[in-house]
Amino acid sequence: MNGTVYCDWMEAELDALRQQSLHRCLRIVDDRGEEGGKWLTVGGRRLFNLSSNDYLGLAGDPRIADAARQAAEQWGAGAAASRLICGNHRWYADLEERLAEWKQREAALVFANGYMANLGVIAALVGRADAVFSDRLNHASIVDGIILSRARHYRYRHNDPEHLEHLLKKHAGHRRALIVTDAVFSMDGDAAPLSELVELKARCGAMLMVDEAHAGGVRGSRGQGLCHELGLHEQVDVIMGTFSKAFGVYGAYVCADRVLIDYLVTKTRPLIYSTALPPMVVAAVRKALEVVQEEGWRRTRLRENSAWFRRRLRACGFAIGEGDSPIIPWIVGDNRQALRLSQRLEERGIAAVAIRPPTVPEGTARIRFSLMATHTREELEEVIRQMQLAAGAGEVETG
Ligand SMILES: Cc1ncc(COP(=O)(O)O)c(C=O)c1O
Repeated sequence: MNGTVYCDWMEAELDALRQQSLHRCLRIVDDRGEEGGKWLTVGGRRLFNLSSNDYLGLAGDPRIADAARQAAEQWGAGAAASRLICGNHRWYADLEERLAEWKQREAALVFANGYMANLGVIAALVGRADAVFSDRLNHASIVDGIILSRARHYRYRHNDPEHLEHLLKKHAGHRRALIVTDAVFSMDGDAAPLSELVELKARCGAMLMVDEAHAGGVRGSRGQGLCHELGLHEQVDVIMGTFSKAFGVYGAYVCADRVLIDYLVTKTRPLIYSTALPPMVVAAVRKALEVVQEEGWRRTRLRENSAWFRRRLRACGFAIGEGDSPIIPWIVGDNRQALRLSQRLEERGIAAVAIRPPTVPEGTARIRFSLMATHTREELEEVIRQMQLAAGAGEVETG
């Protein structure tokens, strides 16, 4: 009987979401092995992949897969405990040393994934007596970390240091203040004004945390990220990043001063109360870190592809977002239109998902293209041709 009661309200809610084109469903990817993930097979259809976060084309790299395989043969599939119990394999320490060297910071700490890193670190750094100042378009994991921390949550207008300064002054007097931002915004592809944020945090006595999820591996001479590219890596208090995007693996890290890392080891709940990453994943990440640093040509190709694709889309009249990253949003506005456009692209052999609220603000549904270093000009030119055909098929405005 209970089942009927809860099924009713859930069905009603799902129906309402369907009416607004806001329902979500899991699609099965039958194959993503072709050309290292550049092509997918979904529902029997072969699709050109413009939807992954595998910016450097490493998720299918045989050298990285081989590092995982060898480690699995030696150590098995699981870590068997959290890091503070007996899951702290020595490869963790080795990886953390390499990360600290790469980021030129005193210490590093590896987490199971970026979501848990943001959740745990923010909730460890601030509490009820504190305030967090967060960019309006920050990733959901940052928002959830702030909610979990119970600190006061002030959202500043996207990439607007003046508004941030106004809020910092208006809400001064908390025990601690934390400013937090994505380095490159996950659904918009533009970059945060990090120099201004560093200057502001110093002036206001706040801490600054930067999420490099979409800049790690992609920016900086050895892929260290945007803070490093701008020479700000020593002035940002907490630099967080993931291994799930440009690294093509899984997991996350935080780099900071030794004292902050020591504090996190004792205070961060997702680290304490969750099983450690399997050693085979740590081994894969270690290999990926080598490749990311050594194969600068991937960053160069990605940058060239991004600049070229953006230029061509603008020249063809498509309404795309600002920025110079490989994340290129084609803003459509209406949820239904975005879904329809994504479907039409799929019918034309392109995987480019529609992103809708609450992932993005109401009225800004979009197709999020994300480029890879391994895409070629010819392939991208063909994508633009197919976009023009899909947009020209009626009911969808292109910009
Ligand atoms: C900005 C940002 N931070 C954190 C995360 C979470 O990272 P992970 O996928 O490793 O959990 C994401 C992933 O989508 C992200 O875009």
